[in-house]
Amino acid sequence: MSKNIEAAFKQLSHGVYVMGVTDGIYQNAFTAAWVMQASFSPLLLAISINPEHYSYQLLKVGGVCSVNVLGDDQSAVADHFGRAGKDKMTGFQWHVDKTGAPILSTCLAYFDCEVSHYSDAGDHKIAICKVISAARLNQGHPLLYSQTGDMDGSSELYK
Ligand SMILES: Cc1cc2nc3c(=O)[nH]c(=O)nc-3n(C[C@H](O)[C@H](O)[C@H](O)COP(=O)(O)O)c2cc1C
Repeated sequence: MSKNIEAAFKQLSHGVYVMGVTDGIYQNAFTAAWVMQASFSPLLLAISINPEHYSYQLLKVGGVCSVNVLGDDQSAVADHFGRAGKDKMTGFQWHVDKTGAPILSTCLAYFDCEVSHYSDAGDHKIAICKVISAARLNQGHPLLYSQTGDMDGSSELYK
């Protein structure tokens, strides 16, 4: 690998999202940057998830998730949901749409999704998710992954 491999990867553009999950009983959420639209018909999102996350257990059981777009004034929210824990929704205003996945009321926009299938991707799993419902909730500019610095601790992972 070249010496500036991390710097090269950091030139890829990503937004910052909170992925809401539920197994039908418990809710949780985690911050994710590796999210992209994958199809128009049907409308699909591809989300890359570390299967070690507690949230992945809820996702596997429930088969649903929400993708919540964070605004550029919500880096503290990205930090909160970027830390491991159960029941991180406590203290946040949230609601549900069709699938039951928790939606952050303060996000710029959300996508309410059902998982279609998973693909293996190295140390991650790609969840291909069908968009069941979506809405723009609040005005603002999206938070960019490049604005979060090393919040995810990924600088250790390129070595
Ligand atoms: C800015 C940022 C981006 C992140 N992007 C991802 C991602 O795309 N996929 C992923 O699996 N984890 C990502 N993470 C890491 C998870 O949010 C983090 O490991 C979290 O603690 C998982 O929560 P849980 O263990 O409570 O489920 C990111 C973290 C941050 C701060």
